[in-house]
Amino acid sequence: MIRHLVIFGAAGDLSSRYLLPALAQLYERGKLPEDFRVIGVHRRDWDDEQFRRFALDSLRRHADEVSTEAHIGLIEQALEYRRADVTDGESIAAALSHLREPIVAYLALPPAVFEPTITALAGAGLAAGSRVVIEKPFGEDLESARRLNRLLRETFPENAVFRVDHFLTWQPFRSILGLRFANRVFEPVWNRDHVERVEIIWEETLALEGRAGYFDSTGIMLDIIQNHLLQVLCLVAMEGPSSLDEGDLRRPKIEVLRAVKWLSPEELRRRTVHARYGEGRIGDRDIPAYMDEEGVDPDRRTETFAEITLEVDNRRWAGVPFVLRTGKALGRDLGEVAVHFRPASHPAFGQPEAPRPKVLHLVEGPDPVVLDVNVGGSADPFEPKQIELGTVLTPQSPSAYGHLLLDALEGNPSLFVHAEESWRIVEPIIEAWEKDEVPLLEYPAGSYGPAQRLALP
Ligand SMILES: NC(=O)c1ccc[n+]([C@@H]2O[C@H](COP(=O)([O-])OP(=O)(O)OC[C@H]3O[C@@H](n4cnc5c(N)ncnc54)[C@H](OP(=O)(O)O)[C@@H]3O)[C@@H](O)[C@H]2O)c1
Repeated sequence: MIRHLVIFGAAGDLSSRYLLPALAQLYERGKLPEDFRVIGVHRRDWDDEQFRRFALDSLRRHADEVSTEAHIGLIEQALEYRRADVTDGESIAAALSHLREPIVAYLALPPAVFEPTITALAGAGLAAGSRVVIEKPFGEDLESARRLNRLLRETFPENAVFRVDHFLTWQPFRSILGLRFANRVFEPVWNRDHVERVEIIWEETLALEGRAGYFDSTGIMLDIIQNHLLQVLCLVAMEGPSSLDEGDLRRPKIEVLRAVKWLSPEELRRRTVHARYGEGRIGDRDIPAYMDEEGVDPDRRTETFAEITLEVDNRRWAGVPFVLRTGKALGRDLGEVAVHFRPASHPAFGQPEAPRPKVLHLVEGPDPVVLDVNVGGSADPFEPKQIELGTVLTPQSPSAYGHLLLDALEGNPSLFVHAEESWRIVEPIIEAWEKDEVPLLEYPAGSYGPAQRLALP
């Protein structure tokens, strides 16, 4: 385990709200080594004492489930402060000059300064084995994201780059690998012979909520599908890793993305939908049309809803549609992986229309794993009836960011984003959308999306 965590942007919101509380939780549970150090780097003219006061205030506000002793213990044992401007190589090198061991450099910074910070780190003479954790979003568009990835590759070996995807730290998505590979029951049916289709869904009632500055130049395809949903697709479709070693986990995920079939121009029209919301109502809120939201440039034609149907063209999955769908200002909040199984091969009950069984739902919420199955009905045992087998998992512990920090410190990249392959999939789709080869549709805010969309609920 690496014993030095350097937080760049240590006095920012992410640090205060998530990173420091997660560290306090890990400290309380004895998960951090005794000589663990957290070096907060920020451009404010603070000393150790001022940073510690900031940390104490943050922990009081955001880590009240952790004891006061643990707050103080972490702060006194581990926290120190270095002033530096992350865009200035010399200032970064000076701030880190006392560190002789490998570090984890956590970039809790605005994306606009990721590139200069990485360049500064490249010149800072970090000890071999150091890692970098980089928050999303990666750049503001395809080009800047590519530039950023190129720079990261030039600076760190790929296995030292931890691109955060907090979707993958949430329980339903975290549980996919265990569910698939720690049971015997699912693996034999986890393939094209038994699975009819898979849906990976992220739907939000949230509209733009003042985020035009970021969202309008990004769009939901890049904000959600390009990173989060394609990563979830990897977990659902990957082959079993031979071990939990970093390489053994990465390879099968990358192979899934490589196996995703290119869409022909005709398939692009048939299998992709993009749309933006018009005015509507969600609960008791009147929602203006996206085009009328403050800060939106209507000429950009940014999509707020996207659905794409992909095929993972390999022996396990050929022919099975994987539907990835996401949207803003919709009628419900839903994060779900739904694996739809084929109907029973021989309808022994002789019903012309037996209830269609058969969906395994992994849902973001209090009942994260639900399996719909058919059983004999209680009145008539020969009349199949659909029931739900559900479960409630205990709350995640440590927190999502606690897991993420531990994984980065221990060098476990299994739930971090790794591949550039996802760009190969989304780029042609975005290009076709930009050229208007697929019409941009509209849907009323508060609805299920455009009426013409492919897979209705
Ligand atoms: N906050 C969240 O809830 C959250 C959740 C998930 C992901 N994220 C991601 O986390 C990252 C940080 O977000 P945030 O909300 O923490 O933003 P933030 O509150 O603006 O914090 C970023 C910090 O970076 C500092 N900074 C900017 N330029 C700097 C420079 N040249 N040298 C040194 N420090 C500099 C800023 O300093 P000043 O205070 O001096 O301006 C600021 O405190 C972003 O990539 C964001 O997408 C945030």
